[in-house]
Amino acid sequence: MVERADDPTSWKKLWDMERTPWDKGDAPPATIELLRSGKIPAGNGRVLVPGCGRGYDAFAAAQYLPGVKEVVGLDAVKLANEEAKRLQAERNVSQDILKFEIGDFFNLKPEKLFDVVIDHTFLCAIPLSLRKPWAQAMADLIVPGGTLITYMFPLGTFTDGPPHALSLEVYDELLLPNFDQIHLVEVATKFHINRETTSEKIGVWRRKQQE
Ligand SMILES: C[S@@+](CC[C@H](N)C(=O)[O-])C[C@H]1O[C@@H](n2cnc3c(N)ncnc32)[C@H](O)[C@@H]1O
Repeated sequence: MVERADDPTSWKKLWDMERTPWDKGDAPPATIELLRSGKIPAGNGRVLVPGCGRGYDAFAAAQYLPGVKEVVGLDAVKLANEEAKRLQAERNVSQDILKFEIGDFFNLKPEKLFDVVIDHTFLCAIPLSLRKPWAQAMADLIVPGGTLITYMFPLGTFTDGPPHALSLEVYDELLLPNFDQIHLVEVATKFHINRETTSEKIGVWRRKQQE
């Protein structure tokens, strides 16, 4: 992510220029393993992937999460949505289970809440000023007892982003008011960003019951 991209207008420019360096062509193997593991309760089966890009994590949820019924892949940029839909047609995945929508995560008002949300390189992509609204939106969108999966990338200390560096402390501060951490999955992959070797993990969080 070499360009500054702190708002959806900039994201549109990146997509228009075909600059999608974050795109690895599939969901991370560790995410797929987690989804298949039986450790993620699907509840009523509604899954959201915000900032889904070409939709790899949404495809993975539709394919691998036991009990999944409906996956929504959301991206603010029309071109990303078109790319995801093109892949969906290529892969012959039914729209009964997987829908790609255009929209701003921060304005999302779904008719029904989600049982599982997967954040993969979305939190690191948004401006620091939107981190608290991100955490509040996650709490508002997930059913009590539901699950948030955070692919924690990049764990590091550099200050120039996006992608903005993240830390376990940042996740704790944002999420612990409304979520309990259930699992912390080690991921072997390392990445080099801004002269720093960053690490990655997956956090699995359960939405607390509301008081
Ligand atoms: C770093 S990319 C990650 C894409 C995808 N998760 C992946 O790993 O391939 C971040 C994505 O978030 C989208 N995005 C940025 N701000 C958004 C917002 N407020 N609501 C929805 N999508 C947004 C961008 O268009 C971009 O596709």
